[in-house]
Amino acid sequence: MRELTIAIAKGRLQGATLKRLRHVGICAPDEALASRRLSVRDEGGRYRFIFVKPVDVPVYVEHGIADCGVVGLDVLLESEADLLQPLDLGIGLCRVVVATDKPELLSDDFGVLRVATKYPRIAAEYFGSRGIPVEIIELAGSVELAPILGLSDCIVDLVETGRTLEENGLREIEVVADCTARLVVNRASFQLKAGAISRLIKMLGESAEGGA
Ligand code: PRP
Repeated sequence: MRELTIAIAKGRLQGATLKRLRHVGICAPDEALASRRLSVRDEGGRYRFIFVKPVDVPVYVEHGIADCGVVGLDVLLESEADLLQPLDLGIGLCRVVVATDKPELLSDDFGVLRVATKYPRIAAEYFGSRGIPVEIIELAGSVELAPILGLSDCIVDLVETGRTLEENGLREIEVVADCTARLVVNRASFQLKAGAISRLIKMLGESAEGGA
């Protein structure tokens, strides 16, 4: 079988992704996982994992450097990459929301709303579809600070436990999208490595049905 390269999103999804892969018999050596190596082969020699930032998973897969990848729907909604998305893995449940410390601003006819976010495309689409004029302020992280410090009126950001919102005095106003991790596949790899990729989709799909 030809080797498959799988791009794994580092961070919140990494542990659950590796657990799901291990459940279907695709295991990276513990010693490699404990190291800082960013490219690691599985014990069976059939798969190579590359560990990249979540936003870079679609980039590596679209360019065919990775045949497939595991990444959150939030990242895919923001990305313009042309990828196949054959499987919802059902792990990493979270949601993209609108949150603020001044809910009254969102209900009034307010004028132009200032929205801080790591998701400029999702935010623009969301408010655009509601006819609400916005100024998007793009940030790379710690978005919750923006309304508190007066940089924005609200945020569009990811919520998992809700703890970051709560501990920074913000309230969730609306859910923009519910998100889970998806398997994404490069279009050419899907043809050229059809056997290996179909097998991977089948194994991961069956393990998802089994609730692993
Ligand atoms: C994400 C998100 C929130 C936080 C939500 O940030 O942007 O800040 O996690 O998680 P919670 O609901 O469980 O508290 P991330 O950890 O990716 O860091 P960042 O702010 O640097 O982007």
